[in-house]
Amino acid sequence: MAGLIWTHPLTLIRPEETMRSVTINGNTFYNGDCVPGAEEHIPENTVDLIITDPPYGINGDRLHRHYNRDEGFVVEGYVEVPVDEYGEFSRAWIRQAERILRPGGSLYIVSGYTNLYHILAALRETGLAEVNHIIWHYNFGVYTRRKYVSSHYHILYYEKPGGRRTFNLEARYGTDERDPGNGSLNYCDREDVWTINREYKPGRLKNKNELPTELLVKMMQYSSNEGDLVCDMFLGGFSTARVAIGLNRRVTGFEISEPVFAAKTAEIRATKPGYLLPGLRTPEKTGDPPNRGKPWTDAEMGRLAVRFAELRDAGMTKKDAVAVLGQELGRGRWAIERMLKGLDTGG
Ligand SMILES: C[S@@+](CC[C@H](N)C(=O)[O-])C[C@H]1O[C@@H](n2cnc3c(N)ncnc32)[C@H](O)[C@@H]1O
Repeated sequence: MAGLIWTHPLTLIRPEETMRSVTINGNTFYNGDCVPGAEEHIPENTVDLIITDPPYGINGDRLHRHYNRDEGFVVEGYVEVPVDEYGEFSRAWIRQAERILRPGGSLYIVSGYTNLYHILAALRETGLAEVNHIIWHYNFGVYTRRKYVSSHYHILYYEKPGGRRTFNLEARYGTDERDPGNGSLNYCDREDVWTINREYKPGRLKNKNELPTELLVKMMQYSSNEGDLVCDMFLGGFSTARVAIGLNRRVTGFEISEPVFAAKTAEIRATKPGYLLPGLRTPEKTGDPPNRGKPWTDAEMGRLAVRFAELRDAGMTKKDAVAVLGQELGRGRWAIERMLKGLDTGG
């Protein structure tokens, strides 16, 4: 195994040692074990959002052998956790995550299935509450012939109760935006199965299990705002940090491996704050319907009842008829539906 081995938090950092840290544009990153590191450096109730991808406890330093990659570009030094210590390790860092999150703060943990039960058990010992259990489906699963191809991870989305959780409902798609088949783009984007492919980055130094930018952008768009503090307990390739900086969030975190830390902080120095903002998917401005908020006239109500009956008689679904009437009367879908109910048209 390359690099260090996690043993027990207290044995890695002796009390008289100060953990090495680097501050880049006001963001501080720590080269050490996140458990004593968070205890010493991150005050309680201060972090808005934690996104983290702990070591898998399955000899992660060998994971790359399944994939067809040029190993010359993989950063050595990924530190793995011995399987028989995974439960205690998970309890230790999740207790710290709970402590540093602000009330209402959000936590996303990416996990494979092998040690998922340890993480779920550790979460149950805290006051953190489940929001969603997300399945992240990706391509390039390990090829198999005698069983199904494994092509998903779990993302455990939790909150610290006691405050208002940030959830930007229309961060990416307006609730009125439709796909060509009239399906809601907003609903689709908020389903709890996400298909996001892993990135292949030829010629760039990478950690062995880097999370895709698209995945991190999605979590940060929904669960944080510019200026919020994001923390990653296991920075690895610093992908969370890079995306946070790219979205103008503040960021902090920990990486225990010295070679990984050195290589990645050098990259982070070159990362331009806000560089991801111009390319973000944000809601299309559809413009308010022209008659929104205006009182209904008798003529308008009469027209609504007649046209609704005509459209339904012509075989149109209720949903499509409402959309057509919205266009014709310059009103929103909810206004049309409410009025149809009031007129007792069967709408
Ligand atoms: C799965 S990787 C994180 C990958 C990262 N999310 C990315 O996108 O590049 C886990 C990282 O945690 C580091 N690590 C292991 N034990 C740690 C500990 N106790 N504290 C901080 N980092 C640790 C490993 O060296 C490894 O780089």
